[in-house]
Amino acid sequence: MAANEIINVHLFDQEIGRIGMQENEVRSSFQFNPDFLNQNKLLNIFPKTGILRRTKHVQLFSQFDNETFKGIPPQFADSLPDRFGSIIFKAWLDNKVHQNISVLEQLAYIGNRGMGAMEYKPIVQLPENVAIDLDEIIELLKEVLDLKKSSRQKKLDNQALINIFKIGTSAGGARPKILISENRKTGKVIPGDLEYGDHFNHYLVKLALDENENYPREVVEYCYYLLLKNTGIRMMDSKLIDNKHFATLRFDRQDGQKQHVLTATGMTGWDYKNPTNSSYENLFNLCSFLKIPHTQLEELFKRMIFNIIFANTDDHLKNHAFIYNQKKDSWELSPAYDITFAMNPLIDFKQPKRALSVNGKRNKITLQDVYKIAEDYTIKNPDGIIKEIESQQKELSKLLMQHDVPKLVVEKIMDGVAGFD
Ligand SMILES: Nc1ncnc2c1ncn2[C@@H]1O[C@H](COP(=O)(O)OP(=O)(O)OP(=O)(O)O)[C@@H](O)[C@H]1O
Ligand SMILES: [Mg+2]
Repeated sequence: MAANEIINVHLFDQEIGRIGMQENEVRSSFQFNPDFLNQNKLLNIFPKTGILRRTKHVQLFSQFDNETFKGIPPQFADSLPDRFGSIIFKAWLDNKVHQNISVLEQLAYIGNRGMGAMEYKPIVQLPENVAIDLDEIIELLKEVLDLKKSSRQKKLDNQALINIFKIGTSAGGARPKILISENRKTGKVIPGDLEYGDHFNHYLVKLALDENENYPREVVEYCYYLLLKNTGIRMMDSKLIDNKHFATLRFDRQDGQKQHVLTATGMTGWDYKNPTNSSYENLFNLCSFLKIPHTQLEELFKRMIFNIIFANTDDHLKNHAFIYNQKKDSWELSPAYDITFAMNPLIDFKQPKRALSVNGKRNKITLQDVYKIAEDYTIKNPDGIIKEIESQQKELSKLLMQHDVPKLVVEKIMDGVAGFD
């Protein structure tokens, strides 16, 4: 792709606009497709958070030149891979002895395989998928991620790398993961993301890869999922594969359709790596701004209490998302995801700080701090919610033991699950 590139953005089978990027990749532009604007429909696909305006004029952006947004508006940066996807991408490109690749070229590789519903064209076509062999994929990923010395003499096989690139890079996040679709009738699993029909279950699978890791991280995440269900917090149905990989149904593939999804970071431009805007209050304000039903604000309050009590400190702004309702042209809070004991329990962290502050604090959060939030956002009966979630503490140790998490790990997790200060 040439410098000063342009890429088209499609949503719900129509071109909604074009992103442009200057050669130095510092400034980008976006222009809505005038035909799309003239329809006067889907008015709220990008809520008015002060970034994209509904105008036929070209809009310029220089404020997003950082690691999180890579120069482009956050709504589209949400489609780019994070740490894990970028490592795989790089391994594949290195294999091809490719030059540096631009951010719009990355979007072209993502093409129609991105999370959510936005698609980027022209698509860079890649060879067809071959059948999936999870074990083989895992062995390869271990080599790519340097978790194991390569037993191969030659460079990694290009087709194999393309396969993992295609099935693993579009999801965000730091941990290794792949996307699979499982035929509801036959149980047959196909890799990647090109099927989104109703006769498949679509999973995001977080893989247990690191043999050096001294505790079963994905099993702990599964136990947290079971616990979360007890508290009535919404999360997509999830399961363990081979008793060790955590598979969760995708909320951006439902009812046989791609769902338009933005994270809190993608919607607002609040950088999830920067503490400046990382607070629960901002998240509640965003929900109010999006006119999200009050019951979902209560749900967000529950998630906050759960994260505090069960030491999920990695509750950053990209770990909260919203789903667009096409019929109503409005937004809802997505099901919860990435909720687990965030630190390695076998390492003693001194007073871990949570990503999102509560009443200005990132640790030592008190009941008074959360009462303040309950008051500000008219959440009824905060004590009832807190008691209900606290009552699940014993359940967690039971679940962890039932799933053969080593005793020391269970003890350390239960130490960390201390609740309020
Ligand atoms: N059930 C789901 N359906 C659709 N998208 C999901 C789902 N779960 C996670 N995601 C998306 O995939 C991304 C990565 O997932 P997740 O946050 O669980 O991974 P992670 O590697 O643990 O992240 P982190 O870097 O925060 O530790 C999320 O940011 C979210 O956008
Ligand atoms: Mg995450």
